[in-house]
Amino acid sequence: MPARATWTGPYPSAVAKPKPKSAVKPVAKTKSASKSVAKPKLASNAALGIDVGGTGIKAALVDVTTGALLTKRHRVNTPQPSTPDAVAQTVRHLVSLVEAEGRLPTNTPVGVGLPGPIKDGRLMLAANIDKKWIGANAEEVFGKALGRRVFAINDADAAGLAEIRVGAGRKQPGTVLMLTIGTGIGSGLFVDGKLVPDTEMGHLEFKGRDAETRLSGVARERRSLRWRAWANEFSQFLARVEMYFWPDLIILGGGVSKELDKYGKWLKSRAPIVPAQYLNTSGIIGAAMYAADRARGVDPA
Ligand code: BGC
Repeated sequence: MPARATWTGPYPSAVAKPKPKSAVKPVAKTKSASKSVAKPKLASNAALGIDVGGTGIKAALVDVTTGALLTKRHRVNTPQPSTPDAVAQTVRHLVSLVEAEGRLPTNTPVGVGLPGPIKDGRLMLAANIDKKWIGANAEEVFGKALGRRVFAINDADAAGLAEIRVGAGRKQPGTVLMLTIGTGIGSGLFVDGKLVPDTEMGHLEFKGRDAETRLSGVARERRSLRWRAWANEFSQFLARVEMYFWPDLIILGGGVSKELDKYGKWLKSRAPIVPAQYLNTSGIIGAAMYAADRARGVDPA
């Protein structure tokens, strides 16, 4: 393993400073959020899912029992710089597009998947989104912009939740690892269907760097790697991950999962690898499922 000095990962500058316990406010107490929808009564199984990525932001209304989209999947580019204010305004616009389809009662749970670990609604690390997000309370930022109660979850955790419940990981016992490969590399770890949140495997050290800076979809293009070369390196990363977590199934999601036919034959792993059933839409579906759970007082973690 390379010496620690060669490490170029996000620590410590890109990481939120730990907050003293007493300073962490319960999420539900944010003024704007709690005022608008105190305890939503769910009239249906519909929830709004929003997936904030480094490149695009997507949203749709979702039937959380089946994972079916109840509206079109709307997408806009992530604003640059992707500050909390700019992203919140873009999300507001996206939600207005969903609303324009006429199916968004005020008590609809709203879930947002974000590219970073989230503690008490706050983003703790921001590798693929503006650094102003570090320490920002995402649930409050979006709650204010939308005038609705919003629940925030890591984007890969959200994608994994969808796949575990209605997709490629359905009924799979043991340890299931969802890896999303896009602008970054995200991970969602599930043990017997239960989420172990915020695992952040894309930041494991790989050849002296953050793994995602060498192996994400964006990194593959930046490095002009052909699929075979990328798959060989990605297999080495998988070997490392498998050595630590011993998954029984690996689900690949994110933009790169759509192209599994181009590189699947070169991937090597102990556990079987399957593509996400909902490909790049799992993040929206899982964010909606998470919101529906939290609105009912359930936490999937
Ligand atoms: C973030 C993760 C996220 C992944 C994919 C990484 O840079 O730290 O939280 O899941 O990108 O968006």
